[in-house]
Amino acid sequence: MTQINASIDVDQRLYAHDIRASKAHAAMLAAVNLISADDLKAIETGLDQIEAEIKSGQFTFSADLEDIHMNIESRLKDLIGDAAGRLHTARSRNDQVATDFRLWLRDMIDTQAHILADLIQTLLNQGETETQTLLPGFTHLQPAQPISLAHHLHAYAVMFLRDLDRLGDVRKRVNLNPLGSAALAGTPYPIDRNQTTKALDFQGVTANSLDSVSDRDFALEYMSAAAICAMHISRLAEEFVIWTSPQFGFATLSDAFSTGSSIMPQKRNPDAAELSRALIGRIAGGFQSLLIVMKGLPLAYSKDMQEDKAVTFQAADMLSLGLQAMAGMIGDMSWNRAAMESACHQGHLTATDLADWLVRTLNIPFREAHHITGRLVAHADEKGVQISELSLSDLQRQEPRIDDSVFSVLTPAASMASRISAGGTAPIRVAEALAASRKTLPELMSRFGGKG
Ligand code: ARG
Repeated sequence: MTQINASIDVDQRLYAHDIRASKAHAAMLAAVNLISADDLKAIETGLDQIEAEIKSGQFTFSADLEDIHMNIESRLKDLIGDAAGRLHTARSRNDQVATDFRLWLRDMIDTQAHILADLIQTLLNQGETETQTLLPGFTHLQPAQPISLAHHLHAYAVMFLRDLDRLGDVRKRVNLNPLGSAALAGTPYPIDRNQTTKALDFQGVTANSLDSVSDRDFALEYMSAAAICAMHISRLAEEFVIWTSPQFGFATLSDAFSTGSSIMPQKRNPDAAELSRALIGRIAGGFQSLLIVMKGLPLAYSKDMQEDKAVTFQAADMLSLGLQAMAGMIGDMSWNRAAMESACHQGHLTATDLADWLVRTLNIPFREAHHITGRLVAHADEKGVQISELSLSDLQRQEPRIDDSVFSVLTPAASMASRISAGGTAPIRVAEALAASRKTLPELMSRFGGKG
C-alpha cells in the first residue's frame, strides 16, 4: 500500500510552494479569528525552520507519511506541538495540492518564459547580420527559391513568439486560487478566500469548489503548449542536423555543441540537436498521459490525479533543457555563407523569376509562362547548366521576344531582393520583421513574473 500510495519522491519538489500556501492560509485563519496570534506565530516559525531543513538537505522524507503535505505537517507537530494541528482547519489536502501545484506551475512558466525569450533573442541576433545571406528555400525539401538566412531564422523566432504568447494564455488560467474549496464542498468556517488570493498573488478565486479540487486543465494546457513548443524545437533541430551534415555544409557546430564518435575520428555529431529533436516524445507523452488519467473521472478529487505531477515536472524540465540547448547551440553556430550561396546556384532556383518576368514584361499569362520556363529548365538540364547560364539565343528559341534584360532577374540575389511583399524575404522586409519581433518580445514578457 505504501508503495502505490506514496508520492513523496515526486511531490517533495512542491515544498516551498506548500509552505508558502500554508503560511497564507494560517495568516488568514488568524485574521478571521479561527486561530490565535500565538498559534500563527508558532506555525510561521515552525514552517520557516522546515523550509530551511529541506533546503539544506537535513529533512528526512518518509514514504509512510505519503506526500509533501503530511511530511511537513508531521514535522511541524514535532516542532511546535498542538498548534500544528490547527493549520489544517478549513482546508483539505485536495485544495492544498491544487494550490501548491498551481503556484509551482506559475513559477515554472515565469522561469521558462525567460528561457524562451533568450532563445528568441539568439535567433534575432543571429538573423540581424544575415539579411543579405543567400540560402536556398525549400519546399518538400527540394530547392525552391532563394531566401535569406535571416528570413529562415526569423521564421523560427515568430514560432517561438507564438509559444511565448501561448504560455502567457496558460498562465492566466493557472493563476487562480482554489484554496478554501476544502475537500470538495467548501467549508462552514468563515474563511476569507480573497485574503489568501492576495497573499499568494493569484488573479482571483476559482468559482466552484468541486471543480477547484479536481480540475487539472491548467496542467494539461501547459503541457499542450509545451508540446507545441517542443514540436518547434524539433523542427529547428532537424534543420541543423541537415545543415551541418557534410552533404549540405551550410553551418558548423561549435566544439562545445558537437560530439565525436568512439570509433570514427572524422565525426562531428549534432547530439544536442538530435536530443532536442527527440524531447517532444516525453513532453507530448506527458500530455497524453495526464489527459488519459483525467478522462472519465467523476467529480470531485480522485487519487488518480496524483499522477499529474510526475509527468508535468518531467515535461517542464525537458522543455527548459531543450530551449537552453538550442539557444546555446545557435548562439555558437557558424554559418558557411559560401556553401549556402553556391547551393542557390543549383536546381534552377530562379525559374519562378523567369516566369514572372515573362508575365510582367511580355504580358504572357502565368500558366503559359510556366510552360515556357519548364521547357527552358529541361533544355538547361540537357546542357548541364543553370537557366541563368543559357544564352539569349537559347532563351529566344522558346520565346523570341525575350531580350537580355531578363538576365538581371535570374540571379539569386535579385530574386531574393524582389520579394518585397509584406512578410517576404527581401532584405528590407526581413529587417523590418526582425525589428517588429524585437519590439513584440518585451510586450509579451510583461505578462510574466520575474525569473522565479
Ligand atoms: N498527494 C495527493 C495528490 O497529489 C494529495 C491529495 C491527497 N488527497 C486525498 N484526499 N488523499 O493528489
